[in-house]
Amino acid sequence: MNKIRGVILAGGFGSRLGLLTRITNKHLLPVYDKPMIFYPLQKLLDAGIKDILIVSGPEYSGHFLRLLGSGREFGVRFTYEIQDEAGGIAQALGLAEGFADGNNVAVILGDNIFEDNLSNEINSFTAGAKLFLKEVADANRFGVAQISGNKIIGIEEKPKKPKSSYAVTGLYLYDFRVFDIIKSLKPSSRGELEITDVNNHYIKDGKMSYSIVKGFWSDAGTYDSLLRASTLVKSSRDKKKE
Ligand code: G1P
Repeated sequence: MNKIRGVILAGGFGSRLGLLTRITNKHLLPVYDKPMIFYPLQKLLDAGIKDILIVSGPEYSGHFLRLLGSGREFGVRFTYEIQDEAGGIAQALGLAEGFADGNNVAVILGDNIFEDNLSNEINSFTAGAKLFLKEVADANRFGVAQISGNKIIGIEEKPKKPKSSYAVTGLYLYDFRVFDIIKSLKPSSRGELEITDVNNHYIKDGKMSYSIVKGFWSDAGTYDSLLRASTLVKSSRDKKKE
């Protein structure tokens, strides 16, 4: 039985979406025919993960509870945690320590839409950390991995001049050591605890592996990527019907 626990990070203000996030959270907006968070949730469900923590901000945490409930409908157990301020992805993940209870964690950002079924990758993970990379045209919008041979040698967060076109997608597999690493982090220049700093820690220790994402991948945190995510989901659905 897989003991890896799932964490969906759905905090932040979604400020890049302007009016769309004035009265609700970004992760509840529609991507084609479902609220955004259903897509990352499905990746964890496909992997057979039974315990899933949802971290959101205080303003709309009740909306997540109303939408998702206890988890019974999905055959899993949901736990909810509140990130009091927008202190970064790593800070949000730090709130999962008690929930993880010594187990490995599969962490997925609530605005990341993956076409691939990633259950084999998730279930074969044992220790260290694992990232999922995707070649993109606009790498400067993401964490960017520098690869040498078959190893990631460093990640830069939103670099002006990306050293590769490999974006670090928002699915991360970590062993329990991640929580000690988070405690050792200092806030970045934008005042947040960065997930990229966590990943660079594992890279320095020689404990980082990665896979390349084959199918489409999109985030959905800007007007254009939100629209793109809906279009990709629809065309993938239409292809399956043919
Ligand atoms: C975050 C991470 C970035 C990653 C991206 C994936 O960026 O900081 O490294 O590539 O998610 O969606 P954000 O979208 O929060 O700016």
